[in-house]
Amino acid sequence: MSDPSSLPSFVRSPQVDFLSSLAVDRTLAKHDLAGSVAHVEMLARVGLLSSAEETSLLAGLRTIHGEIEHGRFRWQEALEDVHTNIEHRLTELVGPAGGKLHTARSRNDQVALDERLYLREAVAQVAHALLELEGALLSQARAGAATPMPGYTHLQRAQLVTVGHWWLAHFWRFDRDLDRLFATVDRSDVSPLGAGALAGSTLPIDPQYVANRLGFARPFENSIDAVSDRDPLVELLFDLALLAVHASALGEEIVLFASKEFGFLLRSPELGSGSSLMPQKRNPDVAELARGKAGRAVGDLASLLVTLKGLPLSYDRDLQEDKAPVLDSVATLSAVLSALLRVVPSLAFDPVRLRSASEDADLLATDLAEAQVAHGVPFREAHEAVAALYADPEGLPRALAHTPAAGVDPKVFAPSDPVASLSRRASWGGPSPAQVARQLALAEDRLSRRRSSLSSLDRKVGLVEELLTEGPK
Ligand code: ARG
Repeated sequence: MSDPSSLPSFVRSPQVDFLSSLAVDRTLAKHDLAGSVAHVEMLARVGLLSSAEETSLLAGLRTIHGEIEHGRFRWQEALEDVHTNIEHRLTELVGPAGGKLHTARSRNDQVALDERLYLREAVAQVAHALLELEGALLSQARAGAATPMPGYTHLQRAQLVTVGHWWLAHFWRFDRDLDRLFATVDRSDVSPLGAGALAGSTLPIDPQYVANRLGFARPFENSIDAVSDRDPLVELLFDLALLAVHASALGEEIVLFASKEFGFLLRSPELGSGSSLMPQKRNPDVAELARGKAGRAVGDLASLLVTLKGLPLSYDRDLQEDKAPVLDSVATLSAVLSALLRVVPSLAFDPVRLRSASEDADLLATDLAEAQVAHGVPFREAHEAVAALYADPEGLPRALAHTPAAGVDPKVFAPSDPVASLSRRASWGGPSPAQVARQLALAEDRLSRRRSSLSSLDRKVGLVEELLTEGPK
């Protein structure tokens, strides 16, 4: 612990434990250092640093990067946060020139910049996992493209679908999540550095240079907005909360389908563990936790929104509370996705159970009504007639033995032949083999376009590391 009088006066406080954000913002060290590299280069270009000072500051920042990477950096709680820890160490390493690092910069624009650099990386991390999960869902969808299964509304058997159609329904949800994450990065492609505490600087700084150097589309438009805007983090938390909700719904269906009541899924060792008391049990713990973690992600979103509500412009210390929910949500979703990524490929449907569930005449009631409509019967009339047939315990067997309804070919109504029914469900986006094949092709194409968006994002994310490992210029 340093002698308190050697600490910069702005962090001297009897309440430093309460004020410190170090435990959380240490995660942003790399982003903070890369931002400082760009800032130092800019200061030198506009003549606020000599080239010798620039060289020494850049070397110092890169040394610190190495120290942190190798766990040799001595973090000091008394220095309050990651920013001050790094600046303090820089001054130890390079002497008084270290005191020039913070020229025309405040921790307010600095932290906002760090967060945007972090956001990119976090999105790339989640997007990699999500893309892999989408790939696994597609493989399952391909394998089950033509396998009939009951489709549900109100969790009651409703109409026939296929296993592939069901997997694809989950795929499209996750694909929208991915789209939202990329859009969040695009909207936050703005560098806040140069906004200072809230009103820029009297010095001739060049925020455009910093923005370019860090791969941002442009610098901020308004210095007050730049230091207080947490929209990107809120959007990220929303994207992750909705992703978590989607993962929870998949988790729930896996739990249901793995139960003895449904019996659709064969046992998968990836799905969970046993009971400490009941020897026969195999619990779908992983799917349950994928469902359960959504509560945290939704809570993280609510937490940041409540922190922001009613805050006066521009920077307020409340904003320090923005990082914990974001880091928590990113870690939570990364864990959920990698757990699901192991579960999804391990799942196999029990063909016998699925077949018997799919040969349920209930699933064909609408087919029967629509077959009459095709012969000119008004749909409402056909609906009534089929409802009456299904309500009468004798109605259905009688209908099956003869002609099920006026003018309808009995072959149209064959519960023992779900495949025939599926081939007739050929309307746009439906479960017929042709429609599922069309969806699959579209999904494959979507996935490959997402992969290339992710490669561009990876290149931007890589800039941080590049700035920190570049040799002396
Ligand atoms: N630890 C602070 C945060 O996370 C950094 C900015 C502090 N700014 C200040 N004026 N005290 O928001």
